[in-house]
Amino acid sequence: MEYKEILEEARKQTAPHCMACPVCNGKACGNNVPGPGSKAPGNAAARNYDKWQEIFVNMDTLCQSVPDPDVSFELFGHRFSAPIFVAPLGAVDMHYGPKYNDQSYNVDMMKGAIASGILAFTGDGVNAQIMKDAIADSAALGGLSIPTIKPWSREVVFEKLDDVIAHNIFAAAMDVDAAGLPFLQKQGGKAGSKTVAEMREIIEHAARPFIVKGIMTVAGAKKAVEAGAAGIVVSNHGGRVQGGVPSTAEVLGEIADAVRGQTVIFVDGGIRSGVDVFRALALGADAVLVGRPFATMLYGAGQEGVKVLADKLTGELKGTMKMCGASSLAEITREKIRF
Ligand SMILES: Cc1cc2nc3c(=O)[nH]c(=O)nc-3n(C[C@H](O)[C@H](O)[C@H](O)COP(=O)(O)O)c2cc1C
Repeated sequence: MEYKEILEEARKQTAPHCMACPVCNGKACGNNVPGPGSKAPGNAAARNYDKWQEIFVNMDTLCQSVPDPDVSFELFGHRFSAPIFVAPLGAVDMHYGPKYNDQSYNVDMMKGAIASGILAFTGDGVNAQIMKDAIADSAALGGLSIPTIKPWSREVVFEKLDDVIAHNIFAAAMDVDAAGLPFLQKQGGKAGSKTVAEMREIIEHAARPFIVKGIMTVAGAKKAVEAGAAGIVVSNHGGRVQGGVPSTAEVLGEIADAVRGQTVIFVDGGIRSGVDVFRALALGADAVLVGRPFATMLYGAGQEGVKVLADKLTGELKGTMKMCGASSLAEITREKIRF
C-alpha cells in the first residue's frame, strides 16, 4: 500500500481521536485530544514539529558521488538498518481506537520494526500485564526490543527488570518524564522522580544497556550519564506530560555539546521526515525515535505500514545525505545545517 492510502485507512480506525493528518504536526489535536494531543496550553507537539522546520540543510553536491550512502547504525553491539527507532506508546486502544490493544499493538509493531531492520521501544501502563506481555512477546521474537518502564517504586521497577533479565531482552529504558503522571502520583511517595543514586541502582540492576528517556536539560543529561545511562532520549514526551516546554530541537544541540561520546543520544518529538532525521543527527543526535506516525501506519496497514514508513524515512535520509555531501552518518555534522 502507498503511504497516503495507509493514512486514509488509518483515519477510518483512529478518528475522532487521531485524524491521521497528512503531516502529524500536533496542530489538529492540540490540547483537544487527550492522548495524541498535548497537555495545555496544547502547543508542545506542534512546537516540536515546527522547530525542526526552522533548521535548513546545506546543499553541497560538489563531492564524490555515493549512490547509496550507508545509514546502518550500530547500537549496543547490534547493527540496525538506520538510526531510526519506534518510540514507545501505551494505552493505544484508549488513544487511537479498538483495532489494537497494547499487547497486539506491541507485537505487530515489534514485528514490523524487525522486518524493517530496526527495533521498537514498548510502553508501560497501570496494568502490569502490559509490560509482562511485551517482554514475553519480545523474547519469542528474539528479544530485540526496548521495554520502557515507568518510574514506579524501586520494588516495582526491580520486578519488571527481573522479567527483562529473565527473558534476555536487548536493552531497557525508563521514561523518567512520566514522573508527574496522575497514575504514578497516586502510587504514593515511592513512585515518581528518581535521584542519581536511585537511578544508578536501577541501571546496575538492569545488567544491560539502559536508556533514560525524557531528558530536556544539560543538567539532566549529565545526571543520567553520572547514573550510568548507556543512552538518553532527549524527549518531552511529545508535549503530553507538561505544557510550556521547549521543543526537543531547541535543547538538543546544547545537550549534545555536553554529553556527546559519553552516552548514545536519541531524540524524539515531531520528527516526520528523513530531512528531520538529518537535522537531528547534524545537531548531535546519534539516532531518532518516531512515535505517533508509526502508530498511524500500524492502524492503517499493520506491519506493512511500519515498513512503509521506515523505508520512507530511510530513503529521505539517504536522499538528503546525497544532496548535502554526506556519504556516511559520521559526515552529518553541524556545518551541514543553518538556522
Ligand atoms: C498515545 C501516546 C502514548 C505514549 N505512551 C508512552 C509510554 O508509555 N512511554 C513512553 O516513554 N512514551 C510514551 N509516549 C511518548 C512517545 O514515546 C514519544 O516520546 C512522543 O510521542 C514524541 O514523539 P512523536 O512526536 O514522534 O510522537 C506516548 C505518546 C503518545 C502519543
